[in-house]
Amino acid sequence: MHVHYALKANPDARIVAEVAKAGFGADCVSIGEVRHAIDCDIPANRCVYSGVGKTDPEIIEAINLGIECFNVESLEELHIISHLASHIGKIAPIALRINPHIDAHTHHYITTGLAENKFGIDITLFDQAIRMATTLPGLHFRGIHCHIGSQILTNEPYALLCSRINELVARAQQAGATIEYINVGGGIGVDYEQPASNPIADFQGFFDTLRQGLILPTGAHIHCELGRSIVAQCGSILSRVIYVKEGLERRFVIIDAGMNNLIRPALYQATHRIDNLSAPSSTPTAHYDIVGPVCESADTFAENYPLPRTRRGDILAIRSAGAYAASMASLYNLRCPADVIYTE
Ligand code: LLP
Repeated sequence: MHVHYALKANPDARIVAEVAKAGFGADCVSIGEVRHAIDCDIPANRCVYSGVGKTDPEIIEAINLGIECFNVESLEELHIISHLASHIGKIAPIALRINPHIDAHTHHYITTGLAENKFGIDITLFDQAIRMATTLPGLHFRGIHCHIGSQILTNEPYALLCSRINELVARAQQAGATIEYINVGGGIGVDYEQPASNPIADFQGFFDTLRQGLILPTGAHIHCELGRSIVAQCGSILSRVIYVKEGLERRFVIIDAGMNNLIRPALYQATHRIDNLSAPSSTPTAHYDIVGPVCESADTFAENYPLPRTRRGDILAIRSAGAYAASMASLYNLRCPADVIYTE
């Protein structure tokens, strides 16, 4: 089993360096991420590169850097990579990213394996894709890649994915292709409700499902690309209460973190656990809308949320912010990015 860390979850150099020390590869979606992974000591030949819109200069640079493979997302991209590689006298390693039409039962913004999604080569084009991948002159076909979504909380979609991949492997072998590896993507969900009592994602269930479900061709490896499940529970956003404002219908806790620091609630209606670190545990509870200072009504972390009675100056911790918080931060409203502090 080869694990590639999905840099998009959190590309902080200190984290990527730890990941490199653990022997993981990198899952990248831009040449910036490929360069960054290499700078953080992940070898180029352990970097895989996905994305529906890789530009020609990005492709050429990645070939020259010697990446492990491109996860190719369209038939046209196969032609372009082959053409660019041949042009510079190289052979580009590729895997076919197949869209397997599997519902991962997650938020529709983070499902990627349905026919309606922009990702991957549609499964109905698989035979054509295999023919091209094994015959175009600038390509070295290495394997099959699928990624069905993120924050997936049951293993049943992965079990379905395994059987679909087994069918694809059989078809690829019939077409004479050699499979070096099968990449099942990432997506293991984490517990946003009870992060303290359930900090470790269900890696066991995920790996057992793959072990039971995949029929591996001789000599082939399994690859996966984990982001959130590795880092989500490693960080909290610490924010100070600026005001407690009594609205006509609601009571607002206004904090100095905003949607520019954590966009997940605004974008995916995500809920993160929030704790008041300043209030003694004996304090009676009240219900608040917890909002940031950004000029958008969507800048709301939680509605009608129970907290110990909260006051100006209290420190709130927004939990599970190690993944897709800092990496998705923006300067909107010309607000400063939050400092990231590391503790052992
Ligand atoms: N591999 C590919 C091809 C991906 O597109 C992704 C995530 C991953 C691996 C890593 O998935 P993970 O293990 O982290 O679930 N910003 C959203 C999540 C977007 C995920 C995009 N792709 C959020 O905050 O929920």
